[in-house]
Amino acid sequence: MSKKKLMFVVGTRPEAIKMAPVILRAADDPRFEPLLVTTSQHREMLDQMLAVFGLTPAVDLDIMRHDQSLADVTTAALRGLDRAVADLAPDVVLVQGDTTTTFCGALAGFYHQVPVAHIEAGLRTFDKRQPFPEEVNRCLTTQVTEFHFPPTDRSLQNLLREGVREDRCWVTGNTAIDALFWTLDRAKRDGRLEAPTGRTLLVTAHRRENHGAPMERICNAVLRLVERFDDLEVEFPVHMSPRVRSVVMPKLGDHPRIRLIDPLDYEDFVLAMHRAELILTDSGGVQEEAPSLGKPVLVLRETTERPEAADAGVARLVGADEEKIVAEASRLLSDRTAYEAMARAMNPYGDGHAAGRILEPLA
Ligand code: UD1
Ligand code: UDP
Repeated sequence: MSKKKLMFVVGTRPEAIKMAPVILRAADDPRFEPLLVTTSQHREMLDQMLAVFGLTPAVDLDIMRHDQSLADVTTAALRGLDRAVADLAPDVVLVQGDTTTTFCGALAGFYHQVPVAHIEAGLRTFDKRQPFPEEVNRCLTTQVTEFHFPPTDRSLQNLLREGVREDRCWVTGNTAIDALFWTLDRAKRDGRLEAPTGRTLLVTAHRRENHGAPMERICNAVLRLVERFDDLEVEFPVHMSPRVRSVVMPKLGDHPRIRLIDPLDYEDFVLAMHRAELILTDSGGVQEEAPSLGKPVLVLRETTERPEAADAGVARLVGADEEKIVAEASRLLSDRTAYEAMARAMNPYGDGHAAGRILEPLA
């Protein structure tokens, strides 16, 4: 029996983390021949993650240019992915999430009439501008997908409401949790998972809706929090986007208890989450991982396509509203009962076995 050729398309940091468990499992399965194609929409942040998981691309399109527009990313990714599908002739094209690479990979597969599999399908805010442009990327990706892999029942229901056939959907859990458990096991084995000491606030922010004035308000809130709590340390791995760095560096660069650092590799970031008392983030992936680590999250967004954690009471939306961020974080940092109510470890996004569930229907 010939092996099924699976073309995995990856462009950014979170796609590498969430695709890695599926690629690694496919590589161990005699039924599959996995081929990794990277657009490298992200360069340094992608290479950092490929190294963590020991992944080597078969094709690297190397499209990142500094501060390029969405149209630049889209045209370069589509042109390169179109060529890659033609050259590699895969049986299935797999895409993950909602980036521009995701949409272009799906479209390239569709144009060549190769079935597309979408991992993390069905997430929706029902607001085209939040997150921008991801909400539209994932809706468009659904339109050209044959194998839909919603992580949760909630995301399955979103797809069914849009008319996707139920027999084309497999609820799998999010592969983020596979990657997280794999990394926690490795860190434990290497003796790197130590009990947290002191109080650390971990911050990440990068969404386009938060560029500019909202990012300034987030920074102001962080400054007010370190001033209010004199034992509080802030750890802020700053995204490589110049739109993020040009605000965060000058605003927060000088404070002795705020550590602005370059993006951490995945294992180091997992250890940073484990050490943290509280997490402030607008990241999709971090919203999924934090509940599995029992860490309360304040989500720096107006709305989320990942409502499961907020519904379970372990995450809360605070937007980029300076007053709300300061008020909610202060409450959690000063009221032990409120803190403990939110610091309950649970796995609303997955059980760590998503990769296997994704591969079965593709065999
Ligand atoms: C992209 C995705 C977003 C995802 C995020 C994960 C789109 C439209 N956006 O947003 O959905 O949540 O990645 O982090 O697909 N840069 C570097 N080095 C890197 C990475 C980025 O210098 O390793 C800089 C470049 O100047 C680049 C800019 O950051 O042009 C923005 O990168 P881009 O991929 O366009 O958008 P992100 O904001 O990273
Ligand atoms: N992450 C990381 N290093 C960092 C910051 C984040 O490894 O310095 C990981 C994080 O654990 C999560 C993913 O990157 O798995 C989230 O990526 P990002 O926030 O860039 O994108 P999003 O998930 O919002 O699309």
